[in-house]
Amino acid sequence: MYKILKKQELVPNIHLVKFLAPAIAKKAQPGQFVIITVDEKGERIPLTIADWDKTEGSITVVFMEVGTTTQRFALLNTGDSIDSLVGPLGIPAHIEKVGTVVCVGGCYGIAAIMPIARAMKEAGNKVISIIEARSKYLLFWEDELKSVSDQLIVTTGDGSYAPQGWIPDQLTQIFEGEEKVDLIFAIGCTFMMKLASETSKPFDIKTIVHLNSIMVDGTGMCGCCRVLVGGETKFACVDGPEFDGHQVDWDVLLSRQSGYQDLEIQSLQNWESRNWRRTK
Ligand code: FES
Repeated sequence: MYKILKKQELVPNIHLVKFLAPAIAKKAQPGQFVIITVDEKGERIPLTIADWDKTEGSITVVFMEVGTTTQRFALLNTGDSIDSLVGPLGIPAHIEKVGTVVCVGGCYGIAAIMPIARAMKEAGNKVISIIEARSKYLLFWEDELKSVSDQLIVTTGDGSYAPQGWIPDQLTQIFEGEEKVDLIFAIGCTFMMKLASETSKPFDIKTIVHLNSIMVDGTGMCGCCRVLVGGETKFACVDGPEFDGHQVDWDVLLSRQSGYQDLEIQSLQNWESRNWRRTK
């Protein structure tokens, strides 16, 4: 059992959970993830490690409620425990000095991009971070990202705070300006990463995305997380999660991600109808 040291709803439907996990904290590197199981009958879900503290022996994840498992996870509180926590998994982000790096994050990706932005800054790069949300009330970790970036750009879909628009709009403005960008990292929903990659491709700027395909074992055994990159089948859990966004077959990824949508909706409806008292 892995104990929850801290649980906080950062903004509606997006939660921070800090676990006591000294062995994982000792080895965690930017870009890696863990697989959790909320209880012994629960499904396994991958979550990017947003932060870790070797001294405290803790790791932090930030996740969005999207289905039954994440709703059940969101109901846990400080002091509760989950059944299993496996990690760190995946190949760490490649950190080196390249010049100017743009780190973009949307939804849970605002937290997931944090360790990469920090590491790229420590490696001597100029870091420009861009975060997006549909509206002001869904933004979080603005100060945290500012502290590890030379420049932080915030954009909101409804224009309620900062310029109205999305990450591709901000990327285009940077590319058309004076700044020479050497590398982009993008973490967030698949659609945002697809659009960010499509925006950078005509400018020939290498774009690293963190693919969030459906996973089961997370160790390259089940094949569930397979993605098509540069015409080759790759396993996101062991060959990634980092891939070249210009090489990813986004249509295949989006279609595989929605493969269980009907069952997921059914599962959520069943769970909510059984637990309506608890969720009200
Ligand atoms: Fe099973 Fe990647 S999750 S092979």
